[in-house]
Amino acid sequence: MENRTRLLLPLYVLVFCFSSFETYVSIEMDTLYPGQSLSGNQTISSRNGRFELGFFKPGNSTGYYVGIWYKNLNVKTVVWVANRDEPLLDHSVSKLELSEKGSLVLYNQSEIPVWSAEPSSSNTMNSTVAVLEDSGNLVLRNGSSPSVTAWESFDHPTDTWLPGAKLGTSKMSKKGLIYVSWSSPNNPSPGLFSLGLDTNGTGWYHILKNGIRHWTCGSWLQRVSSFSTETVTTNYITMEYVSNKEENYYFYSVTTSSVLVRFLMDVTGKVQQLIWKDGTSDFGFPIPTEVERNSGFYT
Ligand SMILES: *[C@@H]1O[C@H](CO)[C@@H](O)[C@H](O)[C@H]1NC(C)=O
Ligand SMILES: *[C@@H]1O[C@H](CO)[C@@H](O)[C@H](O)[C@H]1NC(C)=O
Ligand SMILES: *[C@@H]1O[C@H](CO)[C@@H](O)[C@H](O)[C@H]1NC(C)=O
Ligand SMILES: *[C@@H]1O[C@H](CO)[C@@H](O)[C@H](O)[C@H]1NC(C)=O
Ligand SMILES: *[C@@H]1O[C@H](CO)[C@@H](O)[C@H](O)[C@H]1NC(C)=O
Ligand SMILES: *[C@@H]1O[C@H](CO)[C@@H](O)[C@H](O)[C@H]1NC(C)=O
Repeated sequence: MENRTRLLLPLYVLVFCFSSFETYVSIEMDTLYPGQSLSGNQTISSRNGRFELGFFKPGNSTGYYVGIWYKNLNVKTVVWVANRDEPLLDHSVSKLELSEKGSLVLYNQSEIPVWSAEPSSSNTMNSTVAVLEDSGNLVLRNGSSPSVTAWESFDHPTDTWLPGAKLGTSKMSKKGLIYVSWSSPNNPSPGLFSLGLDTNGTGWYHILKNGIRHWTCGSWLQRVSSFSTETVTTNYITMEYVSNKEENYYFYSVTTSSVLVRFLMDVTGKVQQLIWKDGTSDFGFPIPTEVERNSGFYT
């Protein structure tokens, strides 16, 4: 009798530990709190279940990356990558941690930080949380006053322009929100091609190859509409151009909630608008760049 109790106790403790660990890793959560971390197969998901953040290994690559992908597609479709240049050898001993000071830090297996997101305010924010929003935007914010955003992945894009994110330039710094292709389908390190907006406020966008202008594509809106307007609806999206005191940018929203839309600066130098419909197909509208070239635009 006594023996059995002794045996049961450790078992109970083990089950308890296991179930609390399970709760921590597998519950549908969208938030990391200070001191919490992800490693191995652990992920967080946006509240609407559309996006997931965690470690992934692209194709036949030998390295792991931290990224965001669509959660419920049968093909892993990555929309953002943190450590583009610093692949990890082993995801089970690497760690993405929200520090007590509010930085999101990725440690490799030697516990060396290889990537981090630092909140813009210099305050030490022990109330900072990291949230994967329904839009696929990973946000660091003050947990006590959620309207204050200290860092967001939409400001640090990789190759994919999602609905709600900007393609733009700041008027003060002339710095742009630029989308840079992967090196190859198996390697998210920055590739040859990038998509950006002209700094002259005309709404012209261009593709750079190796940092040198490759195509200038004209205005996004005038390309699809001969009317001079700030908003154009076409191919499942409404595209809008905004020019205010601080910045010029395009952003778009999706007109049909059942489809997933993204723009991709692909590894071959093409910008594509890609659509997932009914979760089964991925068809695209290439953004015609050759046409502008033939019409005598700057190339
Ligand atoms: C992580 O996921 C992979 C692929 O689904 C699986 O093979 C592996 O066993 C999982 N590892 C753990 C520790 O759960
Ligand atoms: C991965 O696949 C690509 C093309 O499919 C190939 O060129 C490359 O050598 C492969 N890399 C490795 C590490 O197997
Ligand atoms: C961890 O990162 C550091 C700095 O990049 C590097 O020198 C070290 O080799 C990495 N460790 C592993 C196991 O990848
Ligand atoms: C976070 O929000 C709380 C409540 O609004 C505020 O008291 C605190 O100063 C904020 N912290 C930072 C670092 O902004
Ligand atoms: C933040 O730090 C302050 C001072 O160290 C402490 O009083 C407060 O309880 C902390 N807040 C949280 C949410 O941990
Ligand atoms: C804006 O930049 C584009 C591409 O460089 C150029 O063709 C266009 O003339 C410029 N517009 C103005 C008003 O400077």
